[in-house]
Parts: sequence; structure tokens; C-alpha cells
Amino acid sequence: MPRKQPKATADASDNQASLLLAWYDRHRRHLPWRSAPGEYADPYHVWLAEIMLQQTTVVTVGPYYQDFLKRWPRVQNLAAAPLDDVLTAWAGLGYYARARNLKKCAEAVVADHRGVFPDTEDGLRGLPGIGPYTAAAVAAIAFDRPTTILDGNVERVMARLYRVATPLPKAKEELRELASRFTPQKRPGDYAQAIMDLGATICTPTKPKCILCPWREICAAHAAGDMEAYPKKLPKAARPQRFGLCYVMLDKQGRIALEKRPEKGLLGGMMQVPTSDWLGQAFDEGMADELAPAKLKWRRLDGGVTHVFTHFALHLIVFAATGVKPDPRYQWVEIDNLGNVALPTVMRKVVEHGLGKLV
Ligand code: ADE
Repeated sequence: MPRKQPKATADASDNQASLLLAWYDRHRRHLPWRSAPGEYADPYHVWLAEIMLQQTTVVTVGPYYQDFLKRWPRVQNLAAAPLDDVLTAWAGLGYYARARNLKKCAEAVVADHRGVFPDTEDGLRGLPGIGPYTAAAVAAIAFDRPTTILDGNVERVMARLYRVATPLPKAKEELRELASRFTPQKRPGDYAQAIMDLGATICTPTKPKCILCPWREICAAHAAGDMEAYPKKLPKAARPQRFGLCYVMLDKQGRIALEKRPEKGLLGGMMQVPTSDWLGQAFDEGMADELAPAKLKWRRLDGGVTHVFTHFALHLIVFAATGVKPDPRYQWVEIDNLGNVALPTVMRKVVEHGLGKLV
């Protein structure tokens, strides 16, 4: 039963944007890539932050963002950097195609735009790795263009304001249309960040803090008291499971054998310990010697490593061999030097598991 009717429906007037901007001026998050309200940050900084923030939390991104700007203060520096250095600096952030596209985009800005980012949504869309969300966000935040950004936060806010019955992802266009009604002509860059902050800090997925919300009075879900029921979502399909065998080889000096993954595909160009294919069925461990990268005395380590990717969960069993004669097919890396290698999180877990069980 609805608790009460909303006093007004969101009519998307500049008035609503003003309420949100006044809230933002007092309560905005102070994030490393943000300029003061009314000031517009360097487009290179805004773009870098937006690419890093795709699928990754503000807290995780912070140190990576600072580190990238220290290493590559300008887009020209990033364009000229070796890809392996960029992948290494990115290691741990996940979704490594983003790092490859980041580098390609920096190269395109330098080669095709004289090092200056295009200042419109359409111009930005033409660059590698910049999709509709990122183009809208950079155009708004860096160039104060009145674009409509639609990320998970904005979807949630709109779905609640209007109690949108259509489930996601089908509701996307409906939510975009609703969001577009709110975009103000004045301070659209601050507005874009304000609505992100509203979603991240007030209109949270669970236990929204409606009492603090500047849009409380126009929110249909608040009036009905069923905020957490929105956005509606289709039931998720179970995540597929994959399985693999990994091989940790240490030479007499305690260096570990690593190889580069193919440039194309998942974790493209990142480093790994030798591994079997990752299949949809658990391995018969009796196959471990046959699948191993070399004929060695392999020891099966207790337990294993599980890593959850977006589209599947991967379960790895780890085998180890020590005192191995270094085979030149591999890079033999000192353990203390692993921080300088583009090792994705799943492989960092495998190495830690391997070393933990060996010492
Ligand atoms: N998530 C994506 N972009 C963001 C931004 N500019 N500020 C805070 N959170 C974000």
C-alpha cells in the first residue's frame, strides 16, 4: 500500500536541477579528478578518470589515477608510452581492454587532434574506447555541454523518481528519456557529477537516505515507500563456471616463469603463469602432467584459486615445480620484481597461492 501520494511529479524543470546543484555545492564528494564547482577540469584528467571508473569503484581508482598522472602528466606522454608499461600500471584495475583502448585513444588524440580532446559528445564518440556514456560524461564534465549521462546511478535515481515498471536492461531508453528531461542548460557539468553523487551517496541500492535527498518531494518511490524495489531487474542467469590448471615454475634462484597472453582476447597482452585452456568442465587431474608446459616433477598444491570475471567464474588448480632449469620460452621474474609486470589480479592470486603453499 502506498504510504502517500507524491506532492508533485518530477517535471524536469531547471528548478529540479537547481535543487540538486544546491545540494551538490554543499555535499559533493571531493575526488582527485574533480575541479571546484564552476571550474572545468583538464579534459585529459576527466577522460582518464572516466575510463578508469567504468566498472570500478571510486576508492579503487584513486591511487591508479594519481599514479598515471604522475607517470604520464599529459596525453602526449601517454601516447608515447610503451603499451607494456601502461598494462603494468593498469594491473589490478581489471577489464584490461580498457587499458589497451586508453593507449589507442591517447595516440588518436595526438595524431588526429593535435593533442587536444574534441569538445563535443559526437567528436568524443569518434575516439577508441569512448562509448556513449564516456562521451556524454567527458563532454559534460570537461566542456560543460548539456549532455545526458546514464550510468547505473542515474538509472536508479530515475527508476525511483518515476517508479518505472519496466525491468532493466529493457528500461534503458525509457530511463534515458526521463534523465534527459532534467539536464539543465546552466552548469550541466556540475549537474552530471551531482546526479552521480546523489546515486552513489543518497539514492543507494539498499537503504537509501531519503531524508537527506534534495529530490525527496518529487520521488514517487519515496512517496510509496518502496524505493528498494526500483530499478526493476530481470532475474540474472546463473554465472557460468570454468575450470583450468595453472603451473607455477620456480628456478633455483626462486624466479618464476611467466609468459605473455595473446594480444587479442581476455586479458590480452597481460602476463600469466603457464595455464591450460579454461573450459566449462572440471579437469581430470590425472591429465595434469600431460597438459603441463614441461616434463617436471609437479606437485599439486592444496586448495585452489577462484576468480570471478563478469561473464564467468574461473576455478584454477595450481601445480608447482621448483629448482627448474630456466627455459628461454619464458620470462623468469624475481618475486620482488612482480610489481613491474603486467600481472592481472587472477594471476596475482595464483602466484600468491603458489608461493604461499611452497614456503
Ligand atoms: N563514476 C563515474 N564517473 C564518475 C565521476 N566523474 N565522479 C564520481 N563517480 C564517477
